[in-house]
This record gives sequence, C-alpha cells and structure tokens, in this order.
Amino acid sequence: MAHFDRPHVTQPTLLLAPMEGLLDFVLRDILTRVGGVDRCVSEFIRVTGTLYPERVFLRYVPELLQGGKTASGVPVRPQLLGSDEVCLADNAARLAAMGAEGIDLNFGCPSPVVNRHRGGSALLEEPELLYRIV
Ligand SMILES: Cc1cc2nc3c(=O)[nH]c(=O)nc-3n(C[C@H](O)[C@H](O)[C@H](O)COP(=O)(O)O)c2cc1C
Repeated sequence: MAHFDRPHVTQPTLLLAPMEGLLDFVLRDILTRVGGVDRCVSEFIRVTGTLYPERVFLRYVPELLQGGKTASGVPVRPQLLGSDEVCLADNAARLAAMGAEGIDLNFGCPSPVVNRHRGGSALLEEPELLYRIV
C-alpha cells in the first residue's frame, strides 16, 4: 500500500472560527467535546492603551487556568484587537506568560465601529502598521 505513504502531505488543521458574543468558553467546551477541532480562537479582546490584569483575560479565556486548553485538550488562542503595537505586544506577552500557546490578531473584523477606531479589517489599509503589530 505504498501509495498511502505520503509523508510530505500534512493533515489539514481545522480551526474553530471566533464569533464575538457567541463563541465563548461554554460553546468552545461543547464543540470541542464533539471533536474534529484542532484549535480555537477566543472572541476578540479589545486593547486600547491598557495592560490588562490577568482577571480580564480569564474572563474571556478561562481555559488559561487549565493550560490554555479546553477540557478535551484543544488549545485556545486568545484574539487581540487594536492598533497600538506596543500595547498589543505588552498584552500578548502577559497572555504568553499565562500559558497561551499562541496569540491571534484580529485583522478581519469589518464592523464600522471597530474600523472607526483603527481596528480589525481597517488595518489591511495600513500594511506598515500591520507589519509592526505582527
Ligand atoms: C457573530 C459573528 C461574530 C464574529 N466575531 C469575530 C471575532 O471576534 N473575531 C474574528 O476574527 N472574526 C469574527 N467573526 C468572523 C468569523 O470568525 C468568520 O471568519 C466569518 O464568519 C467568515 O466565516 P465563513 O466564511 O465560514 O462564513 C465573527 C462572525 C460573526 C458572524
């Protein structure tokens, strides 16, 4: 069965798309128990000039108390939204210290309210800033 031996072909990774106001830790727990999900992204956490205390992050991602994973062992990447690269980096460092396996950056939210504050998809119009944030 040599034709099944294709080590160069990697398995696809299935991400659970973030949905603000819907996909919180309860739904992440339920859906990852069903199986098939390789990684979750949290609802967006808006960063506006403040280094958040741990309790704020725990409200969005209580999984950080259990190694950053859902009860069924699926990693959850906290998602940050904002345009202040220094503040985003400070908050990302705190999340890393709390055990997050990675940080997701929101460059996709099309909401006019978010975009008006230079967040989400509005950043795609500022590639230099986007680069500095990453
Ligand atoms: C109610 C709602 C909330 C969403 N919240 C977020 C969010 O917090 N962060 C994010 O990156 N995308 C968010 N999205 C975008 C989704 O993760 C997804 O990328 C989008 O719905 C497109 O997926 P589809 O092509 O499978 O429909 C949201 C979408 C919906 C409908």
